[in-house]
Amino acid sequence: MTNREDMTLTSSGFYVSQEAPIKADNPVPTPSVPAPDILRCAYMELVVTDLLRSRDFYVDVLGLTVTEEDENAVYLRSLEEFIHHNLVLRQGPVAAVAAFSYRVRTPEDLDKAVAFYTELGCRVERRKDGFTKGIGESVRVTDPLGFPYEFFYDVEHVERLAWRYDLYTPGALVRLDHFNQVTPDVPRATKFMQDLGFRVTEDIQDQEGTVYAAWMRRKPTVHDTAMTGGNGPRMHHVAFSTHEKHNILAICDKLGALRMSDAIERGPGRHGVSNAFYLYLRDPDGHRVEIYTQDYYTGDPDNPVVTWDVHDNQRRDWWGNPVVPSWYTEASLVLDLDGNPQPVVERTEASEMAVTIGADGFSYTRADDESGSYRGEASKGFKIGHQL
Ligand SMILES: [Fe+2]
Repeated sequence: MTNREDMTLTSSGFYVSQEAPIKADNPVPTPSVPAPDILRCAYMELVVTDLLRSRDFYVDVLGLTVTEEDENAVYLRSLEEFIHHNLVLRQGPVAAVAAFSYRVRTPEDLDKAVAFYTELGCRVERRKDGFTKGIGESVRVTDPLGFPYEFFYDVEHVERLAWRYDLYTPGALVRLDHFNQVTPDVPRATKFMQDLGFRVTEDIQDQEGTVYAAWMRRKPTVHDTAMTGGNGPRMHHVAFSTHEKHNILAICDKLGALRMSDAIERGPGRHGVSNAFYLYLRDPDGHRVEIYTQDYYTGDPDNPVVTWDVHDNQRRDWWGNPVVPSWYTEASLVLDLDGNPQPVVERTEASEMAVTIGADGFSYTRADDESGSYRGEASKGFKIGHQL
């Protein structure tokens, strides 16, 4: 952390500051026109290679509600949602993400989105009738980081099923919470997202100022999306919320009972970053889905930015459990506006996995305390030995 002197070390072991302590060496130019006013992450369009198998996973196992479906696509929503969908499963030849879709505040914000991305030289496509069922006029772009982003305001309203407790399962998913994107240059991506109106809530970096990941929000939660350092552009995960921790445990129990424990990639656990309780699953195509609950409110303008030391063994799991290597290395392809997979560019900076796991990495439980430090999570061999 280059500006550690500008940060305050908290009694919890992380640092806080007022401004995100992230500087981009190679920034995307800041457009001269205002950014669209984004409300929240609204839905993801996922291309899946076996629609029925994916439908089984998201509907029969995870319990999302089918708003509408046809032979090519299934439109799903969470129990508290009142817009047409939070997830589109669309049959296609290559498993990938077709759109990270955000709702904007007014129809006029679509004009702003067009002007914003056009000035950056991005490909921009606007459709009066939208790109998916249930969504009205929409703008899709390939952003300067290579991600397919969508913006819309007009949408078909559907019944909010929050009061329909007869439909709840023990693992009921109630909201879409966030996206997570993999990108080689996290400071560049963060600066671009700040220009788009996002505010950073947390980040992970080292003493030299290398940034490994950053979380950013429009709605007043920890994030609407996060930028994870790695080969990209790729999609790391899409996250749905439950109300409580026990709902996540119930999902684990159900997967065990269905002999589907191999769908569990990591967790359940408590994050350091975001303070949320979590579980990571892999769908039949390997798309990663997080089940998430109980992060914190971030809506005040002077909400402190939390910075974690990459060597803090509790940053990604508050209980100190190791992160499995697949979680660091595997992610989903993203598509351009023609439906072709975007080329993946390698990250050149240090990888979080390399600096924290194995012989070359180190982590600590207590900073500046010999008994709290050890060389590599490999020293907890019984925990990670079967994963490497
Ligand atoms: Fe997440």
